[in-house]
Amino acid sequence: MSVIYQKEKKQFLLHTVHTTYAMEVYGGCLAHSYWGHRIANVPTIDERYACGLHGSMAPVDLQGELLYSTDLLPQEYPTFGSADLRHPALHIRYADGSNVTRLRFESYRMLQGKPKLMGLPATYGTEAECETLEIVLLDAVSKIRVVLYYTVFPELDIITRSSRIVNEADKSCVLERAASFALDIVEDDFTFVHLRGAWARERHIAMIPMEYGTVSIDSARGASGHSENPFFAMKKNDATETKGEVMGFALVYSGNFLGEASMDHYASTRIQMGINPLNFHWNLGPGEEFQTPEAILCYSDQGLGEMSRRFHRIIRKNLCRGVYRDAPRPVLINNWEATYFDFDQNKIVEIAKKAKLVGVELVVLDDGWFGKRNSDDCSLGDWKVNTEKLPEGLSGLAQRINSLDMNFGLWFEPEMVSPNSELYQTHPDWCIHTPGRERTQSRNQLILDMSREEVSNYIIDALSEILTTTAITYVKWDMNRNMTEAAGAEQAHRYILGLYHIMDELTTRFPNVLFEGCSSGGGRFDAGFLYYMPQFWTSDDTDAVERLYIQEGTSLVYPIGTMGAHVSAVPNHQTGRTTPLDFRGAVASMGRYGLELDLTKLTQEELNEISTQIQEYHRYEQVVHAGDLYRLRTAYSRKDAAYQIISEDGSTVLVFDFCIVGEPNGKVQWLKLQGLDAEAVYEDVETGKCVGGDSLMYAGIPVSHGCDLKTQKWVLVKR
Ligand code: DGJ
Repeated sequence: MSVIYQKEKKQFLLHTVHTTYAMEVYGGCLAHSYWGHRIANVPTIDERYACGLHGSMAPVDLQGELLYSTDLLPQEYPTFGSADLRHPALHIRYADGSNVTRLRFESYRMLQGKPKLMGLPATYGTEAECETLEIVLLDAVSKIRVVLYYTVFPELDIITRSSRIVNEADKSCVLERAASFALDIVEDDFTFVHLRGAWARERHIAMIPMEYGTVSIDSARGASGHSENPFFAMKKNDATETKGEVMGFALVYSGNFLGEASMDHYASTRIQMGINPLNFHWNLGPGEEFQTPEAILCYSDQGLGEMSRRFHRIIRKNLCRGVYRDAPRPVLINNWEATYFDFDQNKIVEIAKKAKLVGVELVVLDDGWFGKRNSDDCSLGDWKVNTEKLPEGLSGLAQRINSLDMNFGLWFEPEMVSPNSELYQTHPDWCIHTPGRERTQSRNQLILDMSREEVSNYIIDALSEILTTTAITYVKWDMNRNMTEAAGAEQAHRYILGLYHIMDELTTRFPNVLFEGCSSGGGRFDAGFLYYMPQFWTSDDTDAVERLYIQEGTSLVYPIGTMGAHVSAVPNHQTGRTTPLDFRGAVASMGRYGLELDLTKLTQEELNEISTQIQEYHRYEQVVHAGDLYRLRTAYSRKDAAYQIISEDGSTVLVFDFCIVGEPNGKVQWLKLQGLDAEAVYEDVETGKCVGGDSLMYAGIPVSHGCDLKTQKWVLVKR
């Protein structure tokens, strides 16, 4: 049993193999009492605060209790308007203009397995894999009920949370803020860890030591975006990659979000995450309900590394879906950096022929194949092939690729419309806009309103037609601008719900097509997207050194097997840097290895090297896909980086070492491996040398970092 209710203590205990999360009904409120290492008995709130939290000046709403105010009480889903004066999880404006909500415990229910979240992506699990607790809270005056969902995945050491708000009154109300979850931790020694960035430098790790006040990350861009990712972790100040307490939070959502941690004047830290309340007002009519997105919560007392591995396992096994969740994925070549818009059928076939020789299995045609699109200023929405470039049409090109014994994949940007497109001329009202206001363009395009049924039908039909009539086994789903002039405060969320509906429909209709998400690189790399598409184009920056920062940052929460990672040409198109081919190959093989360059311009020697990289990648693809990642040395030293992946069954270990900036005549360093079987012996596949797991972990492998941009790789097999 992973969910237990202890009646006498009014305590709910959620146990995973290594952790315990506990709540208590205290003074009628749902209090948060513990989250940490697994313990059998959790002290009650009164026991925990027996030495007193005095709180002079706190408004009294919990008469007769030791903690007499919700302003002092650590809570699970705090509301606005009454005694708790901290940031609320829920803020409702009622028909009479008032906005006081006071939730009190009403009932609970436990069930095996996990109910679906209607219309939203979420983790899933069988009755054997997880157990769900539903706690119902009621505001008796407004007749608002809130159902809090907690699903426990014991083996994965993960808890997921979401909330459903139900209006049982006979009048409408407006949700001004409805977080997916909140929790109060009465501790103050935290560092806020998050993934910040911009186009071409997504998800760099950043750390902010907590102080009194609020630290937050958000997006109001209509998408989760490049600048912040819907993930953050609260790391104890003394926690490291391998040691100490860390709590991580990932929102399963691709739109506007807010994640925040606020430390109050009693050094209690309130953590919450959900849809961004900025420009969010949701009208809730009588009898209507609102389901928040889900958040994945992970506690680790073995540092950030173990937190990441726990996130990776749940995302891989219980969030990603479809045939490609477990199946090997093809090595692809994408023509974007090879040709940009300047291609025709012959050019693509020429590249494809070379690609076949090096072992590529899938040729992906990127932007520019439709309408009059020779630059980024036209034709989005007109999904009809450009026969000047492709005289035999998409099917003709697909056949040519197929005849080389490779599959064919295609790029789309389904959510967008160019103002000079036929689609826009016919339906100027289909784009997101505010009547009477200028329609701001970005990359010369506007956004179609995914929440409108006729728009979603158009997109589903247009893509279905192409996917049915052409032999396409892969789709790159791109999105290249942020949302402006949203029509009202429900628009951004309705857009995302519409988008999810479209993606659900298309991935269900075409279950054998591999879909890869993209948004000007990794601008919407989030857990919501991974539910529909099991891989994402990590960044438009394909420079191998920059990719170390980006891929390492991304790995804080997302599995490396979800990251599209391609070998591209040098000098690199984004940074101008020239990196050796083996360095580029090693970085790409720590993700979904692919190619993004004009193979017809490479020497035979380079082609041979790529061919070897592909064979090697295939040999260990399953390790990258399902293995456990250990970040041995962080790239953020800007000098070097090292990573290790252990296969799911523990039999194979891949070790990558990267020297970014060499030190001439420098010292020998020992790379100490992690997570091995100390009793076992591991054989180096290349040299045949056998070394004990204990020696590899505690004495280490000697590495020298004498020159720049050098990479070394070891494959160790357990004997
Ligand atoms: C942005 C993507 O990230 C690129 O890979 C490429 O597909 C371009 N869009 C095409 O416009």
